[in-house]
Amino acid sequence: MSASIISGKQVSEQIRESIAKEVQILTEKGHRPGLAVVLVGEDPASQVYVRNKEKACHELGFYSEVHRLSPATSQEELLALVDKLNRQENIHGILVQLPLPKQINEKSVIDAIAPEKDVDGFHPVNVGNLMIGDDSLLPCTPAGVIELIKRTGVSIEGKHAVVIGRSNIVGKPVSLLLQRENATVTMCHSRTANMAEIARQGDILVVAIGRANMIDGSYVKPGAVVIDVGMNRLDNGKLAGDVDYESAKEFAGFITPVPGGVGPMTITMLMQNTLLASKRLNGLA
Ligand code: GUN
Repeated sequence: MSASIISGKQVSEQIRESIAKEVQILTEKGHRPGLAVVLVGEDPASQVYVRNKEKACHELGFYSEVHRLSPATSQEELLALVDKLNRQENIHGILVQLPLPKQINEKSVIDAIAPEKDVDGFHPVNVGNLMIGDDSLLPCTPAGVIELIKRTGVSIEGKHAVVIGRSNIVGKPVSLLLQRENATVTMCHSRTANMAEIARQGDILVVAIGRANMIDGSYVKPGAVVIDVGMNRLDNGKLAGDVDYESAKEFAGFITPVPGGVGPMTITMLMQNTLLASKRLNGLA
């Protein structure tokens, strides 16, 4: 048996279409949603990510500002820009691309973003609201993971979900979102004993450990939904997930490829967050 492929690219295109329609309607009413992206320095990967975010804004009709700052920017200068964007009425989402240069404390910058414009969902207020189940802006990759699971048609409620990885940006928030959907959640991490045995109990298996091809078919319950959040650049230049796709697909019921799985969903959820933030800031949601 071979698994059905969950195409993040296709799901992402469907969601983008409906976002674009809503943006057009809001724009006609004088409420065009706006995103500001801030890039400090010249990290090549960050430059690609920022260009892709700018492109998504243009394609979906958002107002967009990209602030490209010198690698020598001081923390005070960056905080002053964040403060200005917090108060700017045509900006509803603010994203400061990480990592930041050494002279800047990332936490101080994240804490300075107005929580209602924090479209990354990284501000402690949004993290806390996620924890207690209040309305918040959800971190983009975890929100994309839940969306992809839902699109399989497999119900999350009552299922055993196993999450491998406990990072603040993926593992922890994914496990909270799965609990919110009424899954029973087990978290595994680098020190977990008997990981394959535990993973094989998962009707849903979400993998975010950052180690190329580590999770093979011996970790997969027959028929499980397997979501691979990994993005590892191999020596040959190719991109690999954390899941050994060829081996895992023989056991899984549904599986995401890398590339073309979770990756395309992240920017789409960023755009969805910006749309939601704009509606809330305009009293429309
Ligand atoms: N750098 C890599 N991924 C991300 C992300 O999701 N948000 C931000 N702000 N920086 C990143």
